[in-house]
Amino acid sequence: MRIAAAFDSEAELVFFEGECLDLLRQLPDGLVKLVVTSPPYNLGKPYENRLALDEYVDQQRRVIEQCVRVLGEGGSICWQVGNYVGNGEIVPLDVVLYPLFAELGLQLRNRIVWAFGHGLHASRRFSGRYEVVLWFTKGSVYTFNLDAVRVPQKYPGKKYFKGLRKGELSCNPLGKNPGDIWEIPNVKANHVEKTVHPCQFPVELVERLVLAMTREGDWVLDPFMGVASPAIAALMHHRKAIGAEIKPEYVETARQRIAAAVEGELRIRPMSRAVYDPGEPGANVPPQTVRLEPGPVQLQLTEAGGP
Ligand SMILES: C[S@@+](CC[C@H](N)C(=O)[O-])C[C@H]1O[C@@H](n2cnc3c(N)ncnc32)[C@H](O)[C@@H]1O
Repeated sequence: MRIAAAFDSEAELVFFEGECLDLLRQLPDGLVKLVVTSPPYNLGKPYENRLALDEYVDQQRRVIEQCVRVLGEGGSICWQVGNYVGNGEIVPLDVVLYPLFAELGLQLRNRIVWAFGHGLHASRRFSGRYEVVLWFTKGSVYTFNLDAVRVPQKYPGKKYFKGLRKGELSCNPLGKNPGDIWEIPNVKANHVEKTVHPCQFPVELVERLVLAMTREGDWVLDPFMGVASPAIAALMHHRKAIGAEIKPEYVETARQRIAAAVEGELRIRPMSRAVYDPGEPGANVPPQTVRLEPGPVQLQLTEAGGP
């Protein structure tokens, strides 16, 4: 696999170590098909300096403007955010950031609620157990491959019981639309993908976006790449990835994960595994091992044992 440290149109992965605006300025207009990212939330995490809210919004605006410039017509931006918290009061960042995208002419297609089971326990409000993915498109004709991301029907064999179509299947045999509430475990404690990063994406969440919004060979960009979960999801599915990360510790972990994927040793939680339900423990789908073949991006997914 060809990996470049600065933009190279022949590379499969462009991994820039540094400030994302310096990478974005290298990219040609209209290059990428999907921007998928989880930016800093201005919470004072180890990787960010807490700013006044208006300064934070200005900082985000500069990055968003560049992302819109490098996005091709028919492409998508998925901006995944939670809440900013100040003095116990929450500010939903999707509400604050939405106008920036709208002013740049993007159209909101979904406000996806990502629900999960683990997080801080609040004592003066209900514990936060969801974040949001704002999905925007550039233009009204856009790539959306619903069949690639359908999920099993609740009653797959259900048929019409009367009328002209009596006896025919009443639901799509390929599965149903996943909807806009996604229950996907976040990467905490015992998650098979856990690294040193405090807030990494689960690979399966990005896989769904990549499969729905891009085609093979398209560029997927993450300006705040962390430990490279979006790049891994893109490369697994034969897309090309570009990202920037400013903290050397995460850059090093990202490199190790990419190397592990090339060696066929990176384990991820498979998209097909249902969320654990203690009342109805079903068959456990084991972690999958990712292998990115050297040369043109290819993938073998094999089952791995263990938790
Ligand atoms: C919420 S995390 C993203 C984690 C990522 N989605 C993953 O799966 O690992 C935001 C990341 O952006 C990085 N970061 C913050 N400011 C940056 C900047 N100006 N340029 C590049 N990276 C930055 C942080 O170090 C942090 O790793």
